[in-house]
Amino acid sequence: MKKLVMEKHQIEKAVAILRDGGLVAFPTETVYGLGCDAESTTALERLYRVKGRPADHPVIVHVAEAAALDGDALGGWALDITPTARALAAACWPGPLTLVVRRSHRVPDAVTGGRDTVGLRVPAQPVALALLREFGGGIAAPSANRFGRVSPTRASDVIADLGTDVDLVLDGGPCPIGIESTIVDCSRAVPTILRAGGVSRERIEALVGAVTVQSNGDVAAPGTLPFHYAPRARVVLAEHHDVSDLVGRLCASGARVGVLAPMGIAIEVGDEVVVLDPPVDVDEYARVLYARLREADREQLDALVVVPPAGGGIGEAVIDRLRRAAASAR
Ligand code: TXA
Ligand code: MG
Repeated sequence: MKKLVMEKHQIEKAVAILRDGGLVAFPTETVYGLGCDAESTTALERLYRVKGRPADHPVIVHVAEAAALDGDALGGWALDITPTARALAAACWPGPLTLVVRRSHRVPDAVTGGRDTVGLRVPAQPVALALLREFGGGIAAPSANRFGRVSPTRASDVIADLGTDVDLVLDGGPCPIGIESTIVDCSRAVPTILRAGGVSRERIEALVGAVTVQSNGDVAAPGTLPFHYAPRARVVLAEHHDVSDLVGRLCASGARVGVLAPMGIAIEVGDEVVVLDPPVDVDEYARVLYARLREADREQLDALVVVPPAGGGIGEAVIDRLRRAAASAR
């Protein structure tokens, strides 16, 4: 009972901060978001500054329900909603899916980096939904990390990354999915997956038929830059039978080395190697991936050798993030 009262009080405080143009970090089922009033240009400016994000990179607007799609006459955020977008919203919201749709006049330029579409999402997390309902409007929120770094999946990650630059962090515990939402661009003739995420391609295709998947090197969706999601340690991808050799060579070069591999993979490495806790299955891999990458930095590793999970389902999103982390030249 006490906890509920406290949460209500925290939500009210968060809403007051948002109305005042402030920044509130909040949990979602995917990762923590750094939120501001999506209709306040000054709040958005501060959000971009704190995030360290280029002004032409659009942010997702979080809303409480799918009815918020319907603009302009109904006061919503989107126009010309296609049957595909409606079907995806009906089946997947609240949930880890972001729909890119034509924007209504309610959406400020600062949210979309000037483009004529907007990314919308109804998150499936009780604290996030309570905040959205109490606030009433849209909350613009990128992941609550500095630009290009690993997304936060715990309140403590947000505080470690953003410190006092954020006015309030709502703590909803660890994020149950752990990897960002799937982004589907429904503004094109054929729906296109711009970012793999919490809803699998298989599920999307079962709902709306064949979709296009944006190739990795293509950066038409800003924020899907190849160097995103990287820890400071160099991430090196490996097949499981190559791990021991690779680790041996890295250690011989004087590097401090760690290993992340799925449970059940036998690896022989020296005592000096930091073996991170192996995820038991692909869902756990997604859930703990960012925490493990942060751990690699805490352990001050120079290199992290990673055996990716099997593909399919959320495995695709995990592999996508690992590839980007590995492509990062840090
Ligand atoms: O799970 C998530 O999506 C998390 C939580 C907080 O909701 N948010 C998140 O936001 O990952 P962010 O800003 O880190 O990534 C959003 C991605 C960026 O790659 C951005 O370029 C893309 O969404 N995006 C947003 N609006 C877009 C638009 N109109 N067209 C194309 N891409 C868009
Ligand atoms: Mg992000």
